[in-house]
Amino acid sequence: MCESAAVAERILVVGSGGREHALAVALARSPGSPAIHCAPGNPGIAEIATTHAVAVDDHAGLVRLATEQRVGLVVVGPEAPLVAGLVDEMAAAGIAAFGPTAAAARLEGSKAFAKEVMASAGVPAAASVAVTTVQEGVAAVDQMGFPIAIKADGLASGKGVVVAMRRAEAIEAIEACLADRRFGAAGDTVLIEEGLVGPEVSLLAVCDGTRVVRFPAARDYKPIGDGNTGPNTGGMGSVSPIPDVPDALADELVEQVHRPVVAEMARRGTPFTGVLYAGLMMTVDGPRVLEFNTRFGDPETQALLPRVDGDLAGLLEAAAHGELPDAPFAISDDPAVAVVLASEGYPAAPVTGDPIEGLAEAGRIADVYHAGTAPGEDGGVVTAGGRVLAVSARGASVADARAAAYRAADAIRFRGMQRRSDIAAGIDGAAS
Ligand SMILES: Nc1ncnc2c1ncn2[C@@H]1O[C@H](COP(=O)(O)OP(=O)(O)O)[C@@H](O)[C@H]1O
Ligand SMILES: [Mg+2]
Repeated sequence: MCESAAVAERILVVGSGGREHALAVALARSPGSPAIHCAPGNPGIAEIATTHAVAVDDHAGLVRLATEQRVGLVVVGPEAPLVAGLVDEMAAAGIAAFGPTAAAARLEGSKAFAKEVMASAGVPAAASVAVTTVQEGVAAVDQMGFPIAIKADGLASGKGVVVAMRRAEAIEAIEACLADRRFGAAGDTVLIEEGLVGPEVSLLAVCDGTRVVRFPAARDYKPIGDGNTGPNTGGMGSVSPIPDVPDALADELVEQVHRPVVAEMARRGTPFTGVLYAGLMMTVDGPRVLEFNTRFGDPETQALLPRVDGDLAGLLEAAAHGELPDAPFAISDDPAVAVVLASEGYPAAPVTGDPIEGLAEAGRIADVYHAGTAPGEDGGVVTAGGRVLAVSARGASVADARAAAYRAADAIRFRGMQRRSDIAAGIDGAAS
């Protein structure tokens, strides 16, 4: 008899976006061929998994579902249920769940807490002060100079940060949080942070409370328009690997950032299990952490998981049980590129309900992950959100992966579709 951790025959993925579709696909491809359940899921996920109409904030319903379906592992996609303690509730019901406890998810749920942990752990972060009044905020702005980043402390769905070039803009952002309470309690503390310059990197690692197994570095493209123009979005595409962060540098970053944070969280009695995603800026003075996320990134996941050759289900299950192997995880050298297809009006005012054509054709070329889709009349699929789909392809080089992703994207049509044409452009020589 082999003594390795139990292999889950059924896995429940919590969430309904492109990240969760990519997770469901990669988990289903794992060697044990687990049956995938998803709550609430989406039409794309429903093609490969059993979906259940239970919302991500219905913790009692999710615990009941996991119990009824006798799932061996729950994988939580989005941050809100993690910060709200879903993993704790699963644990209390005796269900193994991959993701941090509420206490550990504070690394994402409070940017001020993350700063405090980084300071204790000696992790290089952008310098900042936390304030709770407009007056303190203005004083901090006047001390720091420009550019300056104004950040709501708590979860704000990616809308809580303003990088200001002028005093008036900075003060407006502070007032939006502390006076107008635009983000509710999430903005009752504001971080005033020195503005840094440099390329950004997303470095994700699976942690089991003590051990850390990283993924290759990835990059996402936040602005809606080509050349990084226009308003920020949830992410219009992603690529992995990136030439400026080769594996040796990624290893160094894990030593400087992830390991000390995991050690510090264990020392505090709130060990970190789950994905620790460091959002880094590579400045001329060295790497600086901008923030932590405590889950897979969306859309980085859509460019990372297609590269997985190893047993993702086994990896996440081992982490959930505190038993990560020290061995590296098998990731292909082949790059992957994900291109997001967004609806008309996104990000300000997405128009939804438009029929989507060409999904099957695109699916023959690349992975097509659903994000904001819904079942249409006549068995088709319609747009149902800002980011509608992500097409993700793996190739022998970034150029190959990119070409395949755009070929697949070309096959898809819906009214008013927006996409960037420059995802992973200019790094075509990266991984040949
Ligand atoms: N100190 C900073 N200097 C310059 N740009 C920053 C700084 N902090 C954040 N940004 C920019 O704002 C974006 C969002 O900030 P981040 O801290 O990642 O918050 P969130 O992802 O929760 O919105 C970053 O990806 C980066 O482009
Ligand atoms: Mg971020």
